[in-house]
Amino acid sequence: MAKTEVDLASIPEGKNVVIKWRGKPVFIRHRTSDEIEEAQSVNWKSLRDPQPDEARVKKPEWLVMLGVCTHLGCVPIGEAGDYGGWFCPCHGSHYDISGRARKGPAPLNLEIPPYELNEADNKLVI
Ligand code: FES
Repeated sequence: MAKTEVDLASIPEGKNVVIKWRGKPVFIRHRTSDEIEEAQSVNWKSLRDPQPDEARVKKPEWLVMLGVCTHLGCVPIGEAGDYGGWFCPCHGSHYDISGRARKGPAPLNLEIPPYELNEADNKLVI
C-alpha cells in the first residue's frame, strides 16, 4: 500500500488540513498551545470513551485522526461544535480539540490512524 506524505511546514498553527487516505478523509490539525492545554486539562476519565490527550497524539501540536464520525460515518466539520473541535451535522455529535466524543450520539472518539512523524524533514507519513 502506497504511503502518503504530508509536508507539515505547510500547515500553519491553528489550521486544519484534510487529506484523503485509503479513500477516507484524514484530519490534521496544527494545534495552538491554548488548544493543547485545553485538550490536556479535560477530566478524561469522565468521558464516554475515556482517553487522555497524550494517548491520542505523537506530538501535542499535531492531531491526526480519521475524519469519520463514529456514529454513522459522516464527515464532521472542523472548528465547530460546543467543544472547540469538530461537529458532525448528520445527527449532532460534538468532538473536542482532541477529537474525543463529548456530546451527541457518537459512541467513540475519532479514530487515530497509524502514522509516523518524520521530524528530520517535518513530514507526516501515513
Ligand atoms: Fe455523525 Fe450521526 S453520523 S452524528
